[in-house]
Amino acid sequence: MEIVIVKDRAMVGRHAAGLIEQTVKSRPAAVLGLATGSSPLPVYEALEGKNLDWTDVSGFALDEYVDIPARHPQSYASVIRREVVDRLGLDGRRVHVPDGRASDLDAAARQFDGAIRETGGVDLQLLGIGTNGHVGFNEPGSSFASRTRVAALTANTREANSRFFDSVHQVPTHCITQGLGTILEARRLVLVADGTHKAEAVARAVEGPVTSMCPASAIQLHPWATVVIDEAAAAKLT
Ligand code: F6R
Repeated sequence: MEIVIVKDRAMVGRHAAGLIEQTVKSRPAAVLGLATGSSPLPVYEALEGKNLDWTDVSGFALDEYVDIPARHPQSYASVIRREVVDRLGLDGRRVHVPDGRASDLDAAARQFDGAIRETGGVDLQLLGIGTNGHVGFNEPGSSFASRTRVAALTANTREANSRFFDSVHQVPTHCITQGLGTILEARRLVLVADGTHKAEAVARAVEGPVTSMCPASAIQLHPWATVVIDEAAAAKLT
């Protein structure tokens, strides 16, 4: 695993954007795994200045809330449209977000996993990390073999994400998330994190034991994982 420590959040964005740029330049029909939340925003902002050809690039979001209207500004479908598709000019038809409103959520999750496979798999998966060590919405205890599926959000995650909603009660209780097994199949993983509040989780993911109690520690098993963090998020590394 490669760990890149840079000064601040903006530089995390610039460095990770450079890795995505390399991927898209070497493979114009690249398949990108897309994260939401605060951490990847500087990455998408830095990509905006790069003038890349996005015509043939496809994307798969990591996750989506269950039972949130697709048009809700905090649905991940909306966030991906706003922060990635519209900002960068991707073809929206090539960018997929799990359907958290499907009448058969299990089938929707299986179909999403199948759609990733049909494209030939993800070339570069961008990841954030939760303060409890989750990646995607694979909360502690998630199997490393898990596939895209319906999962419950922990109280910790709902509390953390309540900043995007009017109150914690409005944060959905469930999600569809790519599984850890799905994520580990991406050819390259790039995990980004910034801020002191992420330092503990980053240290556990990178230097702690590989354990499902810290789902992000699964990246230690991946042959090509890069962790891009700022100095604050690196503060608890030995
Ligand atoms: C988002 C996702 C989550 C976030 C994590 C960190 O698609 O899958 O794992 O990456 O909750 O969120 P932020 O970046 O908002 O701290």
